[in-house]
Amino acid sequence: MTHNTLTQPVAAARRAPPGPRGHLLWGMLPELRRNKLRLFGETVRAYGDVTRLRFLHVITYSVQSPEGVKHVLQDNNRNYRKGEFVNGVLTLALGENLLTTDGESWLSRRRLMQPAFHRQRIAAFGAAMEQITHDTLDQWRGLPEGEYVDMEHEMMALTLRIAGQTLFSVDLLGESQALGEAFTVLSQFIDYRLETPYPPPLFIPTAQNRRFKQAMRTIDQTVQAMIAERRRTPSEKQDLLAMLMEARDADTGEGMTDQELRHEIGLMIFAGHETTATTLTWALYELARNGAVAQKLADEVDAVLAGRPATVADLPNLPYARMIVDEALRLYPAAWNLSRQAINDDVVCGYQIPAGAQLSLSTFAVHRDPRWWSEPERFDPERFTPERSAGRPPYAYLPFGGGPRLCIGNMIALTEAPLILAAIAQRYRLRLKPGHPVEPHPLVTLRTSHGLPVRLTPRA
Ligand code: HEM
Repeated sequence: MTHNTLTQPVAAARRAPPGPRGHLLWGMLPELRRNKLRLFGETVRAYGDVTRLRFLHVITYSVQSPEGVKHVLQDNNRNYRKGEFVNGVLTLALGENLLTTDGESWLSRRRLMQPAFHRQRIAAFGAAMEQITHDTLDQWRGLPEGEYVDMEHEMMALTLRIAGQTLFSVDLLGESQALGEAFTVLSQFIDYRLETPYPPPLFIPTAQNRRFKQAMRTIDQTVQAMIAERRRTPSEKQDLLAMLMEARDADTGEGMTDQELRHEIGLMIFAGHETTATTLTWALYELARNGAVAQKLADEVDAVLAGRPATVADLPNLPYARMIVDEALRLYPAAWNLSRQAINDDVVCGYQIPAGAQLSLSTFAVHRDPRWWSEPERFDPERFTPERSAGRPPYAYLPFGGGPRLCIGNMIALTEAPLILAAIAQRYRLRLKPGHPVEPHPLVTLRTSHGLPVRLTPRA
């Protein structure tokens, strides 16, 4: 037996984690397919801090306590790499990049890209975020009166444009429809591969595989065009694209290959917009069905902005807008499940975790655990006031993960999302389409099941 010297000796472990037995052959696979959120929410929570789940022959340990998650992501992070199974599927779709690599290769990329996400640089993104947001809101003015607009779609297009402009200095307005559809296909493909034990190999032209390859081509073409354009007309801009293209290996002096560049850029476009868009969608959903929250935000925005357009500089004076984003990220965490794999044997919350085990860190279960959150199902932005946050274990809330692999774009998201929310609240009231079902739909990120059609009424 391997001993993990980074923590307590494995001999101290007393028990194997409990868990549901499930189907004799399939284990919990049918539940996974039927309702992932119930499985990685209510079901695992009923077993305590760590739950053992079997999917056919694959064993996964779900960790759903702040202490356990902190142990894996932070205290003993060197004993964990990205989960082989989930990461394999992500790599198939997104290639090798900052999200999917481990070890030295990850560290050197992270060091290379970190400066593009520096606080000062993010402040400089403000102008682009403001302009694209106000542009989009102006366009809504032209919508036929009474029409329902799918806010999930709108938020995807808006955050995609912001990611393109801030990270790569390109306007993706013209590509947003095609790219949006391609990323949806990609997410559905990843989901399908994750819950299908023996999927047909990619070279077999099933409808699923063909759609996936077509989506990959769409994304590749956009990214290639961005690289080619920058090579043709070099820019003074020190954006992420410039950093990636100018990077040289310290030992060999070689730059990134075109394929490496494509994988990093594709990931940044995907991770940089979809997560923020789904967070905003959920925040807008709650605003639309929760009059008191909407009114309080409108009051804050009116008092602070007094009719002028919102800017990033206003954000410190818009704490309620930020609390709504925080609460949307709690109740509907875009990254609803994180995956890891143990390198050596370990002990998590007193439970034995064998070397090689797949771990699933359920952000969704932690964020709805009544031990840390009173009335966890209720949307209550004020639980994020400093007073009410005091005393909560730090990893009871982890929308951006934690430890060295903490989301590199978290400051961008937390700048962009409250700004967009404040701008919308200043100009529009939202009304949900009556009878339209809105359920969380867990793909790579937590989307809505059928979009979010709302009617936008300009405020006086
Ligand atoms: C509300 C918005 C966002 C949420 C909820 C979110 C969530 C997360 C989480 C939980 C992780 C850690 C994954 C893990 O540990 O396995 C992560 C990593 C990452 N995120 Fe975000 N993210 C958001 C926005 C962004 C933005 C705006 C960008 C880029 C502009 C971005 C780029 C990345 C990248 C590249 C990684 C991998 C970092 C690494 O492993 O070094 N994310 N994100």
